[in-house]
Amino acid sequence: MRIIFNKVSKNFGKNAPALDETSFEINEGEFVFLVGSSGAGKTTVLRLIIQDLIPTSGKIEIEKFVISKKNHVDTAKLRRKIGMVFQDFKILYNRTTFENVAIALEILGKKSDEISKKVHEVLHLVGLSDKANFFPIQSRRITKSIYCEGYCWWTKNFIG
Ligand SMILES: Nc1ncnc2c1ncn2[C@@H]1O[C@H](COP(=O)(O)OP(=O)(O)O)[C@@H](O)[C@H]1O
Ligand SMILES: [Mg+2]
Repeated sequence: MRIIFNKVSKNFGKNAPALDETSFEINEGEFVFLVGSSGAGKTTVLRLIIQDLIPTSGKIEIEKFVISKKNHVDTAKLRRKIGMVFQDFKILYNRTTFENVAIALEILGKKSDEISKKVHEVLHLVGLSDKANFFPIQSRRITKSIYCEGYCWWTKNFIG
């Protein structure tokens, strides 16, 4: 996936801009780190990529999606292409491991036998087959594994 920031600025109120005409390009297959001191704008960059924020000016291109102040894209379609692992795990505590992983495919309206096959494949990949019917609270390994190892791969291979 190709991500291009072209002179992107983001202002919050009257303070100095969080991003000031920031430009960069990340190409397919590249592995990058976004580093900087607290307040540098890292979270703002990530929030712009998932269109949780709209740039004040400039243009963001994520594959065929072009985001600018004047051009918003279909957020649901954009986010289907992006696997984002949050620090505060976005996990549903009233669903089992299997059900947590299955939810994205359920929303896409996939058939239950297909969902079952794919979810078991993913759980096997991250070594959680034995925990499929456990609730998150029953195993600390579940939160760590699903979200750190499996989720990006899952999005890329099965959903995106
Ligand atoms: N929702 C917001 N409202 C006002 N100011 C914000 C908001 N989000 C971030 N900022 C400001 O934008 C700058 C960049 O913040 P942020 O992207 O969170 O930096 P980082 O993640 O690198 O610590 C900071 O000065 C921060 O105070
Ligand atoms: Mg941050």
